[in-house]
Amino acid sequence: MEILKKDSEVDDLLKKIDSDIKKELSEKRYNHSIGVMKKAEELAKIYGVNANIAKLVGLAHDIGEELSKEEKLSYCEKNGIVIDDTERLNVGLLHGKIGADICKRRYGFTTEMQNAIKYHTTGNEHMDKLAKVIFVADKIEENRKYKDNRKAEKLEVARKLAKENLDMAVLFEIDESLEYTISKKELIHIDSILTRNRIIIDNKAEKK
Ligand SMILES: [Fe+2]
Ligand SMILES: [Fe+2]
Repeated sequence: MEILKKDSEVDDLLKKIDSDIKKELSEKRYNHSIGVMKKAEELAKIYGVNANIAKLVGLAHDIGEELSKEEKLSYCEKNGIVIDDTERLNVGLLHGKIGADICKRRYGFTTEMQNAIKYHTTGNEHMDKLAKVIFVADKIEENRKYKDNRKAEKLEVARKLAKENLDMAVLFEIDESLEYTISKKELIHIDSILTRNRIIIDNKAEKK
């Protein structure tokens, strides 16, 4: 990616994204984005992912999150983003696909970077290491705090796991989210199931 040849160019793009999301997101979500950027950088270094790329994607990952439901739907319609049945009933999920599209247009994000943003909501069976880093960083960044003891304990388990085994950290987060979704009698996005199965299949194959 042309823009990433020099550290100064990365810094300029980080500054641009920072100033955009400061204007477009709430303070809470802005702080969350900074937290994801930092955690993504940390995990990228552990798992051999380009840390500059991880920082850019982490900072930008929720850029489409605070559009209203109507704005999300009309953005998809105008920009040819295909919406599936689960997303139509759970429009919030679309902020991954929308964010990826915004980052492609505004900042020239590569397909790999766009995919990491696209997949951070539901997961995807084709997630690469960058996408997994972003998926996990989103759930465990430093600003996430839970008053509920059980949730707080699980968060600590997830933070530890993230440093030890990226795939198991993804699986842990998917299971957490499935448990919650099932308890609420809500729809499960098929990509979450496919991601879960893919990780289990790949890890079983590795052990053989
Ligand atoms: Fe998000
Ligand atoms: Fe997020």
